[in-house]
Amino acid sequence: MSKAVLGIIGGSGIYDLPGLENVREESIASPWGEPSAPLRRGEMAGLPIVFLPRHGKGHALSPSDINYRANIDVLKRAGVTDLVALSACGSFKEELPPGTFVLVDQFVDRTHRRESSFFGKGCVAHVSMAHPVSPRLLAHLGAAAEAVGIAFARGGTYLCMEGPQFSSLAESLTYKAQGCSVIGMTNMPEAKLAREAEICYASVAMVTDFDCWHPGHDAVTVQDIIRVLNSNAEKAKALVARLAHDFPREHEPCPIGSDRALDTALITAVEA
Ligand code: ADE
Repeated sequence: MSKAVLGIIGGSGIYDLPGLENVREESIASPWGEPSAPLRRGEMAGLPIVFLPRHGKGHALSPSDINYRANIDVLKRAGVTDLVALSACGSFKEELPPGTFVLVDQFVDRTHRRESSFFGKGCVAHVSMAHPVSPRLLAHLGAAAEAVGIAFARGGTYLCMEGPQFSSLAESLTYKAQGCSVIGMTNMPEAKLAREAEICYASVAMVTDFDCWHPGHDAVTVQDIIRVLNSNAEKAKALVARLAHDFPREHEPCPIGSDRALDTALITAVEA
């Protein structure tokens, strides 16, 4: 068994992890280009943690401009076995109001101008995305959320839009009618690339607003988001601290094979 290394991707409002000890900045070169920022490597309760702020220093990268391939690649090279993505999102459900954390277990990908695979010409692979979230990692997150008393939902569908503009009312009503739970701009292709990199992935979607479908709420603005973002960020940091405290020190094989997804995915013949 290998050692577990927990990766944390911080979204809007989460640019560092205050409880991280012995922090070292690490710039790892990637053939896929520049990641959003140097990695911040350290420990929490003795567990190795690697932190990456998705939007870069000073929130300079818009969702479409993030180099998701470089981000996942450097996390893999840093030894990350399990990756938790923290992201702000809008909600499509009355019962998921701002301040709720949704432990997402499905995604709908509506992005259209992002590099979404490590594979292509010369080496073709088709990984399964039927179950994009590692159930074991999701269970650890659920236990941590319960332990720190966060209002959260286990499971939910995250619609990833391209942005950077928010949705039209027609789009918002369509996604809601389709049964989506939350909407954000960053978890795709992140989840797909994590699967290709054989890293267990889970996403904590932190609700900041009701998008624009809700008759009782005005259409979402950045000001609305920022108002909720800071309290969500504090809760997220408590969640990560608890997760790290209880997380197994040895990597547990993923019950659905997220950590060995390429075993059944490569189609290009490999020369003997
Ligand atoms: N991030 C936070 N709120 C959002 C929304 N309503 N739509 C897309 N991304 C978001």
